[in-house]
Amino acid sequence: MDSQSKPRILFSRGEVEATVRRLATEIRQDYQGKNPLLLGILKGSFMFMADLIRLLDFPLEVEFVRLSSYGGGRESSGKIKVVQGLRSEVRGRDVLVIEDIVDTGLTIAFLLDYLRKKKPASLKLCSLTDKPSRRQVPVTIDYLGFTVPDKFIVGYGLDWDEKFRYLPDICVLEQENR
Ligand code: PRP
Repeated sequence: MDSQSKPRILFSRGEVEATVRRLATEIRQDYQGKNPLLLGILKGSFMFMADLIRLLDFPLEVEFVRLSSYGGGRESSGKIKVVQGLRSEVRGRDVLVIEDIVDTGLTIAFLLDYLRKKKPASLKLCSLTDKPSRRQVPVTIDYLGFTVPDKFIVGYGLDWDEKFRYLPDICVLEQENR
């Protein structure tokens, strides 16, 4: 992947919108009246989380952690770094973690393990995308948007080397024919 790589639409903004609406309906049914803590993993989940939360019409709280596994490269390094930790109390809360992508699963497995030790009342995962072909550790995704192929995915919050997060569609990064 280099600076010549061009994003190609995999899921259009319309498909993303419909999928976020479907996820919000599922989450509304399960969390209404529970005042859940929605915990976004930065940076990738910021756009998804903002759109999702706007569709949840009941009291909830918002928190973020910033984890990093990719560094500046294309491949997950496998070493998870907590860049900004959790400030909210998790014990006894219904916690719903919001991710943009589950790839190897190492990032989310690390976080769920960390959260479980803090004894939440419940702990579930909502992920915009899933790339099961690359999984290294088993992960249960309770609310899933899209399954994606083993390609580099950008847009709607997802980046390559901090680029393309702003794109409103979910895209595949492809080499330009030169
Ligand atoms: C990405 C993505 C997930 C994680 C998934 O984060 O947002 O958190 O990698 O990969 P894994 O399943 O192989 O662990 P990244 O480290 O790129 O940080 P970012 O969200 O700030 O882009």
